[in-house]
Amino acid sequence: MSHLFPNDFLWGASTSAYQVEGAAYEDGKKASQQDIINQENYTTRGFATAEIASDHYHHYKEDVALMKEMGFKAYRFSIAWSRVFPDGIGAVNEKGIQFYRNLIDELLANQIEPIVTLYHYDLPWALVEKYGGWLNRQVVTDFEYYARYIINEFRDKVKYWTTINEQSIIVQYWTAKCYIPEEYRTNNQLRYQINHHMNLAHAIACKLVHELVPGGLVGAALGYAPVYPLTSKAADAMAALNAHDLRNAYYLDIYFKGFYTKSAMRYLEKHGLAPEIQPGDMELIKEGTSDFLALNYYYSDCAKSCPEGDGKEIRYSGVNYSGKKGDISGFETHPGFYEMCKNPNLETSDWDWSIDPTGLEYLLRDLYGRYNKPLMITENGLGAFDTLTEDGQVHDDYRIAYLKAHIEAMGKAMDAGVEVLAYCPWSAIDLLSTSNGVKKRYGFVYVDRTDDDPKECRRLRKDSFYWYQNVIRTNGQQL
Ligand code: BG6
Repeated sequence: MSHLFPNDFLWGASTSAYQVEGAAYEDGKKASQQDIINQENYTTRGFATAEIASDHYHHYKEDVALMKEMGFKAYRFSIAWSRVFPDGIGAVNEKGIQFYRNLIDELLANQIEPIVTLYHYDLPWALVEKYGGWLNRQVVTDFEYYARYIINEFRDKVKYWTTINEQSIIVQYWTAKCYIPEEYRTNNQLRYQINHHMNLAHAIACKLVHELVPGGLVGAALGYAPVYPLTSKAADAMAALNAHDLRNAYYLDIYFKGFYTKSAMRYLEKHGLAPEIQPGDMELIKEGTSDFLALNYYYSDCAKSCPEGDGKEIRYSGVNYSGKKGDISGFETHPGFYEMCKNPNLETSDWDWSIDPTGLEYLLRDLYGRYNKPLMITENGLGAFDTLTEDGQVHDDYRIAYLKAHIEAMGKAMDAGVEVLAYCPWSAIDLLSTSNGVKKRYGFVYVDRTDDDPKECRRLRKDSFYWYQNVIRTNGQQL
């Protein structure tokens, strides 16, 4: 029997600004670092740029109408800092902020709750040029300027705020998520320094929401994968705990307890990777309390023991760029601490992401037990090659199967007492993937374009569109 979801459960879906909007240089917007990174991805790998993406900027009314048709109660999206402040700080771009006013009004007119993310990888390029972006502490002050403006602007219309998207993923894949000049790319300490700056920015945003938004609720959106040990050997269980501490707890403890997980910090200090922390930083972090945790869950991870002295070196997560199973370029390794590896018990997507619905139940139970805060699913989904039939249909039964199993798992966790506020899978419509162009699709709505040719970005309902519409209509009773 299906779980009984509360009547005010927020069914919806998510996107992010640079992945969906396009209009990268229109109406006063200037480049973000993602415009530059994706331009490079186009040159080196042939993936679409962010210049047009899904052209949501010009299709937003049609897109909101499609969300309404599916029955969305909520829509999670991000604001492009460089659309509102093209130079990062200074004068507001009226046409840029007007786009978000229009979008939010359109959502509210359709009874769809906006869940706004302040930052989703797209720092204004002007700040990268000026001082190196997130590498420089100055960014925290500039983020406050931007966040204060946005939160104040929408204080009467937006209740749910998420601060920074996926800090843990930014540490792993830093050159894809932040523009890092070539000469810094071998300095792994900077990954944790950037993250420390983000922790300060996150805390400031939490304080601003509490100060400015009556009844406002705020939390980070964390990319989260539970870590299982490869075997039941004690050394592998220890490795999984170490991996959990450095990849997960290191972020969660900051958000909910206001300190860095000790075991992880000791490891970083030992290897010269620890961030520089200035007086007052930890006090600020403590003051920035979160009301909930937004979770982006796609896969679970697996770790095994990695003794020191085996000739292995520190490395970070690899990527599968081709979409051919097995093409992943390697796993994160920290000799003496842990080594990530493939879980032989799980099927994977074409991009080598494990498929593990039980992992969602496991992490919801685990996190609610540890931190006792309400949780939201702000991403979850299956990246796949979709095929458009001649008569304009997409039969994505694999996506339906993935989402159905994950909703069931979420329901089981809720049956066990976990408080989940929302389910917003990735993604409302097809969009530009962060690492694989537009051919890797996630949406309920097919956007008719290719990596080479944006065509007209025509919208077409996939089979999953009708399936999700029925899930929402029956409040999760018919999966
Ligand atoms: C999350 C991000 O990490 O995963 C999204 O918040 C991203 O921005 C999603 O699109 C899926 O990853 P990818 O690389 O397949 O686009």
